[in-house]
Amino acid sequence: MCGIVGFVGKGDAKKFVIEALKKLEYRGYDSWGISFVEGNNLRVFKETGKISEIFPEKIQAKTRLAIGHTRWATHGGVTKLNAHPHTDCKQNIAVVHNGIINNFESLKTDLEKKGHKFISETDTEVIPHLVEENLNKNNSLLEAFQITLNKLQGDFAICLIVSKENKIYVAASGCPLAIGIGKDAKYISSDLLAFAGFTSEVVFVRDGTMAEVGENLKIYDIKTGNEKKVVFQKIPTQIHQAERGNFKHFLFKEINEQPKTLEKIVAMDQKEIETNAALIRNSFGTFFTACGTAYHAALSAEYLFARFAKMHVNTAIASEFPAFENFITDKTLLFAISQSGETADVIEAVKTARAKKAKVFSLLNNPDSTLGRLSDVVMITPAGREIAVLSTKAFTSQLGILYLLSCATAGGLDKAKKNLKDASKSVSEILKSSNIDQIKKLAQKLKNSKNLFTIGRGFNFPTALEAALKIKEVSYIHAEGFAGGELKHGTIALIEKDVPCIVFAANDETKDAILSNAQEIKARGGYIIGVSPKNHPVFDYWLKVADVSDLSPIVNIVPIQVLAYFLALEKGLDPDKPRNLAKSVTVK
Ligand code: AGP
Repeated sequence: MCGIVGFVGKGDAKKFVIEALKKLEYRGYDSWGISFVEGNNLRVFKETGKISEIFPEKIQAKTRLAIGHTRWATHGGVTKLNAHPHTDCKQNIAVVHNGIINNFESLKTDLEKKGHKFISETDTEVIPHLVEENLNKNNSLLEAFQITLNKLQGDFAICLIVSKENKIYVAASGCPLAIGIGKDAKYISSDLLAFAGFTSEVVFVRDGTMAEVGENLKIYDIKTGNEKKVVFQKIPTQIHQAERGNFKHFLFKEINEQPKTLEKIVAMDQKEIETNAALIRNSFGTFFTACGTAYHAALSAEYLFARFAKMHVNTAIASEFPAFENFITDKTLLFAISQSGETADVIEAVKTARAKKAKVFSLLNNPDSTLGRLSDVVMITPAGREIAVLSTKAFTSQLGILYLLSCATAGGLDKAKKNLKDASKSVSEILKSSNIDQIKKLAQKLKNSKNLFTIGRGFNFPTALEAALKIKEVSYIHAEGFAGGELKHGTIALIEKDVPCIVFAANDETKDAILSNAQEIKARGGYIIGVSPKNHPVFDYWLKVADVSDLSPIVNIVPIQVLAYFLALEKGLDPDKPRNLAKSVTVK
């Protein structure tokens, strides 16, 4: 949810931290801050708003040791006081933190009784004061840090610096953190993207470990304090900051990459798909779990496996997974879907399944992630890094791979690949400028809507949910998705003149029923936008899509992704970084 970075060694620490924060801004952008040691003084700068919109380069500093943070607010509003880094009473200790300290209130009360003064509403601020308190008891800094960490309940990735020290102290439990190893410096980050262009050698800070990072690197077990072996790993050097190229926003660039990513799926290793399909076919119960857009892909999987594999699979929103964990056995295949591989709720569900000896299969878009490290089998989509907060190419990639897997379980992979290739061509068609212009016009019509509904049946029920999410998360228009047959069970009371409703009318067995649902809405004054291979009198606005019924979910979502993008532009909003959101939700 937040991005934390650090630099220690030969070089301009401030410059690295600021550039790294800009790369990590997509993880949270309510506020940002940097702290560094200059001479023997600890300096702290922090601001609300996006670092990319402020000129932190103006901060004059010569320093070889710095930490930084870009925040998505959890505890405490978006204010300068709540921005990280947070310090102790004497401003000798500075901390940046990703995660949530669940027991911060009791720790804070206890520290206040001992005279500590707090200036923020955050959970994080207890960390520097706890270290200060433990330092006052003649512990070494490492001991004080370790005692502090053992008092924290919850998830954390932490960087800590002290005014008279030339090392950075880091720790992780339940949140990602890695140390990049450079020739003359060490880089710390919650996201490998920060190391792009600096190093491809990293040390992952595993859960339950802390490290002292300076000229040397030492790793310790938080519980016992015992020193642990340092494990160096290579990260794919192609982990580079995706460039916008000649697109104004990552969102539109990534929408336009979808034909290519779908082609890449068609070319994926046949053996990998068939082996993983057999794994699903032979498991005694496959349980999908995911959040947000990835959950909509998981819900689509229920329909795909029912139709093409004649298999019943279960799906649960990851944060609701605990309600169903009794069904998880050592014969279950837990199938996690996640673009980032860092979504806390999904990680929690995976840990629960692993504790029950279930096999874990993850479909991810990020090759180096916590989820990947927790899984028995990992499939990586070929979508490439997705920077815009809205998931688009990752979503259609997930659908494409789930479609191939479901068909492969029943021996239909070859035909499925051909269908997916056709779908890729259909997506290219939608992205032609004439169609883009038509969608732009629709955005101008809808930009002042207060409410908007989307309906679909069968395969396109999850599409309706995904369409609503895309529109609301980037244009802030209240949009709600329904199964076509459901709107009339209450919500149709909200339909009045000109209320827009997007209807997904694929040329399949649901067509007649969904069109009659459209009539019901129209009869009450609704404005019907049809996403369909054919026009129909009930449509007030028709977005033409190809007739690819097996893969209509992939093709049908693309015009709505484009619509969401232009709605944001029409409303003067940032399509890549919508308010209140972050690309990677690493807190529960
Ligand atoms: C996608 O448009 C949303 N920003 C969000 O719902 C996202 O899909 C969700 O947070 C899950 O993320 P993940 O795929 O990285 O696990």
